[in-house]
Amino acid sequence: MKALILAGGKGTRLRPITFTRAKQLVPVANKPILFYAIEAIRDAGITDIGVIVGDTAEEVREALGDGSHWGASITYIPQEAPLGLAHAVKIAEDFMAGEPFVMYLGDNLIADGITRFVDEFREGGCEAQILLAHVPNASQFGVAELADDGSIKRLIEKPANPPSDLALVGVYLFSNSVFEAVNAIEPSARGELEITDAIQWLVDQNRVVRPHVISGWWKDTGKLEDMLEANRIMLDLISSEVLGEKDENSEIHGRVRIGEGTRLVNSILRGPAIIGENCEIVNAYIGPYSSVGDGCKILGSELEHSIMLGGSRIEDCGSRFTDSLFGVNAVVRKADRVPAAYHVMLGDNSEVEIV
Ligand code: DAU
Repeated sequence: MKALILAGGKGTRLRPITFTRAKQLVPVANKPILFYAIEAIRDAGITDIGVIVGDTAEEVREALGDGSHWGASITYIPQEAPLGLAHAVKIAEDFMAGEPFVMYLGDNLIADGITRFVDEFREGGCEAQILLAHVPNASQFGVAELADDGSIKRLIEKPANPPSDLALVGVYLFSNSVFEAVNAIEPSARGELEITDAIQWLVDQNRVVRPHVISGWWKDTGKLEDMLEANRIMLDLISSEVLGEKDENSEIHGRVRIGEGTRLVNSILRGPAIIGENCEIVNAYIGPYSSVGDGCKILGSELEHSIMLGGSRIEDCGSRFTDSLFGVNAVVRKADRVPAAYHVMLGDNSEVEIV
């Protein structure tokens, strides 16, 4: 069995962070979302992985390499434009070479992994298997309507009036027949070849498509609140490891990971939290559910329930930042000058809330 990870597309919802980087590489608990996908696939016993890449191909290649870091082999499959999930399947046909595969959307996170679902599919009895999850906002997803016997009646992509609260999770298991389906369907109103339509085609052809309603935690990490929630869930799973140094005036409480070369001076750190390598934390408070990337500085400031990407800095701000995301090398600092006004340079679609 092989795997197909989708790491192309455009990350419009997490702009401005994803203007410059692939959304699948934004870190959660200091680890790119895409790495969780590779780990889940490897843990399910699959090592031959195709990765669909688009505009951000170079960055994705740099992060994943040849896959040997995970004991896997990665083949990159360039997609000329984000023409839809079923289009991505279509261009992966040669790579699959007749083998069944798991397709994993690179911006999805499933806390419990996928081993159970892959094993279930390997046991046979169906041509495709989809995962479904109850969600409060079904119109933002592909939605499934099930018949009384639990079989799939209908699948619709982002319906205005969802017939159920069962969203399609971004992990799909396919046999070779999915290629018949993706070659039979036409682009949707939004111009994409929809995987939902391809699966519906299989259902209409009376092929066995097995739905599996999952109960564990799952997230499509498109928006800031989703990233923060994912960060919370993943930080709840970390174990402590302190490689950096703290002085005698600093306190560490709860489960924390601190990377090499990081210094805590006169600061309080309350886990679960993770601080990368070579950070400076001075006269600071870092509260639960914070992830701080490599080379960050938090000086004379407070942070809680937030994500700081590598090289970002908060200097002498005094007050606490919460529910926040700082992009690579972003800086917030107190300036001693007149006029005592806010002075900002914000990226497109940035948001700052002042109280
Ligand atoms: O997350 C689950 C949802 O994922 C499902 O409920 C929907 O049925 C499914 O269509 C999909 O919806 P999204 O709107 O979230 O898909 P998105 O455009 O964000 O693409 C998902 C991933 O696939 C993302 O990592 C980008 C990548 N992608 C996307 C497209 C359209 C590609 O690599 N190529 C593409 O052509």
